[in-house]
Amino acid sequence: MNKWLYVGHLSWSKLGTPSENISFALRVETMSEHNLIKILNEALGWELRATNMYAHYAANIRGIHRLQLSPMFTEEATESTMHADIVRKAIVKLGGIPVTERNSHPIIHTTQYDEMLVHSLETETKAAAVYAEIMIIIEDVGDQDLYDAIEQIYVAEVRSLEELRLLME
Ligand SMILES: [Fe+2]
Repeated sequence: MNKWLYVGHLSWSKLGTPSENISFALRVETMSEHNLIKILNEALGWELRATNMYAHYAANIRGIHRLQLSPMFTEEATESTMHADIVRKAIVKLGGIPVTERNSHPIIHTTQYDEMLVHSLETETKAAAVYAEIMIIIEDVGDQDLYDAIEQIYVAEVRSLEELRLLME
């Protein structure tokens, strides 16, 4: 909301007439929402990929670590599905069309737990970075409900990231 008023003020002094001022401000507002939909779709693509990756690892892990890591990967897959659902609904609410394809970053097949943890850490790092970026854009748009929802997802990603770091020590 602040951004809208601020841009409006700038355009007022620049363009001079009320109608030009309003159309300029509205166009900027639309651009912010356009960017938000775009980056939310990027997050959705990563969540869809994470769901596939974690489900794949939960099924394929071999050896004694399967006992603990298979349930953990299944839990991560479930969490990614829940995150995807929140992000998808936010995109629809903003008037966008959610992506249906996962992010194309390759999911590396392995049966080795240590390799799985490396790929998981990479995924969680990427997710946390995308959500941090989204939070900055939402601040510009001024949607508090969406900000709170995304912040919760961001915190969950950072928590997973820290857990993976400890597991890899
Ligand atoms: Fe997630």
